[in-house]
Amino acid sequence: MPQTIKLASKVSLLARCFPEMWAEPALKSQPKVLQTRKTLAEMPGPSTLSFLTDLFCKKGLSRLHELQIESKAKYGPIWKASFGPILTVNVADPSLIEQVLRQEGKHPIRSDLSSWKDYRVSRGHSYGLLTAEGEEWQKIRSILGKHMLKPKEVESYTGTLNDVVSDLIGRLEHQRNLHEQRVVKDVAGEFYKFGLEGISSVLFESRIGCLEPKVPKETETFISSINTMFVMTLLTMAMPKILHRIFPKPWQKFCESWDYMFAFAKGHIDKRMAEISERISRGEKVEGKYLTYYLAQEKLSMKSIYGNVTELLLAGVDTISSTLSWSLYELSRHPQVQAALYKEITATVKDNSIPTAADVAKMPLLKAVMKETLRLYPVIPSNARVISDRDIQVGDYLIPKKTLISLCQYATSRDEKYFSNPNSFQPERWLHKEDSHHPYASIPFGFGKRSCVGRRIAELEVYLALARILMHFEVKPAQEGHAVKPMTRTLLVPETEISLQFLNR
Ligand code: HEM
Repeated sequence: MPQTIKLASKVSLLARCFPEMWAEPALKSQPKVLQTRKTLAEMPGPSTLSFLTDLFCKKGLSRLHELQIESKAKYGPIWKASFGPILTVNVADPSLIEQVLRQEGKHPIRSDLSSWKDYRVSRGHSYGLLTAEGEEWQKIRSILGKHMLKPKEVESYTGTLNDVVSDLIGRLEHQRNLHEQRVVKDVAGEFYKFGLEGISSVLFESRIGCLEPKVPKETETFISSINTMFVMTLLTMAMPKILHRIFPKPWQKFCESWDYMFAFAKGHIDKRMAEISERISRGEKVEGKYLTYYLAQEKLSMKSIYGNVTELLLAGVDTISSTLSWSLYELSRHPQVQAALYKEITATVKDNSIPTAADVAKMPLLKAVMKETLRLYPVIPSNARVISDRDIQVGDYLIPKKTLISLCQYATSRDEKYFSNPNSFQPERWLHKEDSHHPYASIPFGFGKRSCVGRRIAELEVYLALARILMHFEVKPAQEGHAVKPMTRTLLVPETEISLQFLNR
């Protein structure tokens, strides 16, 4: 243990035993490090009862993002709360978030996500990148990072993704033509299918028919399994394990959803592997440009491939759907921004051709629209870290090792201290160098070694889809003045349907 921490522990012990020694005047002459070691016991926060009342009686689980802002106003930028059996320290200031992330260590741990891990252990499944820890995580991360984070590698998915975007345009055209006013109801539902088709094409280099006029039943079930699993994640984590026996439904539903997702991924992987071995047995040379192939090349066990592909499929659906839905929702309500973006796209893409990765790289407003959308609606409204091997100092507090530290991104990215008019959609704020923002105030893809491994693919997918949708359609609200709020379902998603009018350009 470093000397300062040893010293700090003794100091905090003394402070607890002899509080009068630490009264204000005495502190003045102490070195700074001694002045600022407060313990968890001194940290403000709601009582367990009032937090549980907020959660279960005031629809708090779906309002967790709003609770961040309310709690920050009440307790300040750092507070503690018991989420069921888990004591959480909540941090809602960019510089405090920076302090946590800078101390995350060699193998950062996001959170225990105990229910996700318990499920895998109970079924004998492997962890994927989202759930693995330590050396196991490091190994998978370096394999996936090679293929998912290098710009050149990611660019090579442009053709595959553009084929999926073409089908999306066809599907939007079909759906809006069913409606007299050219309205597509529940765009998030359409973008779920797009997200699943997109990530599947990257993983398997084959199409699974999510954007066909008649969507396969298994696709619908996969998507509803993700939804159920996310709802049950919060519920099962908030319930002490003993309650799982008394109220078994949430845990059962949670496991059934995962069972379906694992089976879905396994079915597609096995099918693809069988095709490959058949071609090899015919003496054909097999080369793949898809992630599952690379994973197999790296000699990962089949169990690990199943675990990773399931988690990548899961990670690629809601994230893309939510970002595209909110982007179009905001663009439909800000016609002047939409017009400027349309101008940027048509000025860059010559002869109405299909935009490429090189084209979208030259579209600053398009990138700013995605940034601004994720600032207002961060898909992961609260990220987390657990520092497992040592106590760390954050602000004035010493946080004991193994504490779950929740990083309240929703609160920081809507804080007017860091963003003027924080609740309004102003993508131009990202275009002016002079409007610099605290680098940790909006970090929708997380940070550092454990940040989102799908970031580059997600950005490319959203840019290609948004650019082409706007080349084809002018997008307007289906109903003027109808506002949609976000809600937390582990991830941040639209609370009600977003329906939009898609008019011919
Ligand atoms: C707009 C879209 C997306 C957003 C906003 C997003 C956001 C995030 C965030 C905040 C994290 C946690 C990072 C941290 O702890 O510091 C994360 C992790 C992750 N994301 Fe994404 N994500 C998106 C799309 C995707 C896509 C499309 C994929 C898959 C292709 C993906 C795969 C993953 C994986 C596997 C991890 C875990 C990384 C690790 O633990 O090493 N994400 N994402």
